[in-house]
Amino acid sequence: MQYKIKFGSPEKITTGCLVVTVSDGAKLSPSAKILDQVSNGLLTRLVKRGDLGRKVGKTLLLHDIPNVKAQRVLLAHCGDQKDFNDKKYGSFVNACIAAIKDSGTKEATFFLDEIVLGDRDLDWKVSQAIMLCEDAMYQFTQLKSKKSDKPAKLSRIYLALSNRQQSGATQAAIQTATAIAQGKQLAKTLGNLPGNICTPSYLADQAKALAKSHKKITTSVIEEKQMTELGMGALLSVAAGSEEPAKLIVMNYKGGKKDEAPQVLVGKGVTFDTGGISLKPGAAMDEMKFDMCGAASVFGTLLAVAELELPINVIGIVAAAENMPDGRATKPGDIVTSLSGQTIEILNTDAEGRLVLCDALTYADMFNPAAIIDIATLTGACVIALGHHATGLFSNQDSLAVELLRAGNETNDRAWHMPLWDDYQDQLDSNFADMGNVGGRSAGSITAACFLSRFTKEQRWAHLDIAGVAWDTGKNKGATGRPVPLLTQYLIDRAEEIQTN
Ligand code: BES
Ligand code: MN
Ligand code: ZN
Repeated sequence: MQYKIKFGSPEKITTGCLVVTVSDGAKLSPSAKILDQVSNGLLTRLVKRGDLGRKVGKTLLLHDIPNVKAQRVLLAHCGDQKDFNDKKYGSFVNACIAAIKDSGTKEATFFLDEIVLGDRDLDWKVSQAIMLCEDAMYQFTQLKSKKSDKPAKLSRIYLALSNRQQSGATQAAIQTATAIAQGKQLAKTLGNLPGNICTPSYLADQAKALAKSHKKITTSVIEEKQMTELGMGALLSVAAGSEEPAKLIVMNYKGGKKDEAPQVLVGKGVTFDTGGISLKPGAAMDEMKFDMCGAASVFGTLLAVAELELPINVIGIVAAAENMPDGRATKPGDIVTSLSGQTIEILNTDAEGRLVLCDALTYADMFNPAAIIDIATLTGACVIALGHHATGLFSNQDSLAVELLRAGNETNDRAWHMPLWDDYQDQLDSNFADMGNVGGRSAGSITAACFLSRFTKEQRWAHLDIAGVAWDTGKNKGATGRPVPLLTQYLIDRAEEIQTN
C-alpha cells in the first residue's frame, strides 16, 4: 500500500472514496459539513434519518454525491466525542478499511487531522491508521494451492491535510509507520510458517537473506559443533531430541559509530515446542509452531531498523532449536552446564525457552551491550496473568523498563511491568544442581524471568514475555507481529537520544 499526502477542499478532491466522520449523534466533521453544503444538505438528511446509526464503527457508503468530485463518500461514525479513545479510534479505522476494501475502490482519502483524540497528535493518528491498514491487508496465502481470494484492489491511501506546515512531520510519520509495518509483516510470516518449513536452518537462511538485502547488516551462524566447543550445554540440551540442528544466529546492524555500544535483542526461536519428554497435551499443540515468535520479532525489528537506517548499532541474536521427544532427548532430572558455567537440573523439558535463552544471553555479553532485551513466548502463566493484550515486562533496571513501557504506549503495542523480586528466586532451588529450570506452579512467568536474571546479572537487561500477544487464535488464527512496534520505537528513541547528546 502507498500512503501519500494531499491538500485541497474536500468537494474538489478527485478520489475513489472520501472518508469523513460524524460524532455525537449527527455532528458532521468540518469536511463532512462542506460536502453537506455543496450537496444541499444530503449528508444531514441521511444522518438525521438514522441511516448511519450512532455507534463507533458504523459506516455508510454514498455514491456520486452532487457537486462532489469523489466517486464515493464513506460516512463513518466516531461515537460520542467525550468517550472517544485509542481503542475506539482503532475500531473506526478498521471499519473504514473494511468498507473501503469492499467498495472495490483503488484508493481512498482520509481527513485524520479533524479527528479529536485526547492528546494524540496527527502523526500518531496517521501511524496507527497505517499500521491497522497494513494489518487488514495482510494475507498469508503462500501455502494455499489456489489463491482463491481475489487480491484487494485498494492500493493507495491519501492523507488529506488542511495545513501545509504539517506535511514534513506527516511524511516522516508515514515513513516510520511503513517501516514498522514491514517489520511486523516479516515477523507475521515467519511466525505463520509451519514447523516443517520454518526450522532453525530456515531461520538461519532468512538471516543470511536479510544481510544480503541490507548492506548494513552482517550475519553469522554458530553451529552445534561450535556450541559444544563453547560449552552451550543448555541450548544444546533442547535440540538433543531433534533431527533439526540448533542454530545460534547473530545479525549485526551497524548504523552507528564504530565504538558505540550496541542494543542487543535476543529472541526465543523454538521452531516447534512439543514439550519434549515432558510432552504437551495434544489440544492446540499446532500453535507451538508460534514458539519462535520472539525470534520473528527480532528479524522484523532489524528489518524496520535497517529500512529506517537508524544511526545506532543493533545486534539481533536468535536462539533457534526444535524441542522434540526422542531416544536422545533430554530427560527430566538431567543436569547440564550452561555457557555461564552454572549448572541446571532440567526438571521439566517443556521449560525449554529459558534454556535456549540463557546461553544466548551469556553469549550476548561479549558485545558489551548498552542494553539486552530478550523476547520470548516463554510461559503459559503470562497468558493467565495478562491475557492477550499486554506483553509481560521484567527488568533488572527500572529505567530500562520505563523506556520500553513508553515505546509500547507510543505505538499501542503495550507492555506491563511485572515484579522481579529476589523473594521469588528461592523457587528455583535444586538439590542437585545450581538451579532447577522450573519454579513450581505459582508465579510461573516471574520465576521464568528470575531464571533468566541469573544469566544477566552484569547487564542492563529486560525480558519481554510475549506468550499472550504473539499470535491470535480462533477464526483469525495467526501471528500478530508484536512486539515489533514496541521494539522499533524503543530503538528510534535511543537513536534520537544519541543524536541529541
Ligand atoms: N512455549 C511455552 C509457553 C507457552 C505455552 C506459550 C502456551 C504460549 C502458550 C513454553 O515453552 C512452555 O512450555 N512453558 C511451560 C513452562 C512450565 C513447564 C514451567 C508452561 O508455560 O507451561
Ligand atoms: Mn515448552
Ligand atoms: Zn516453548
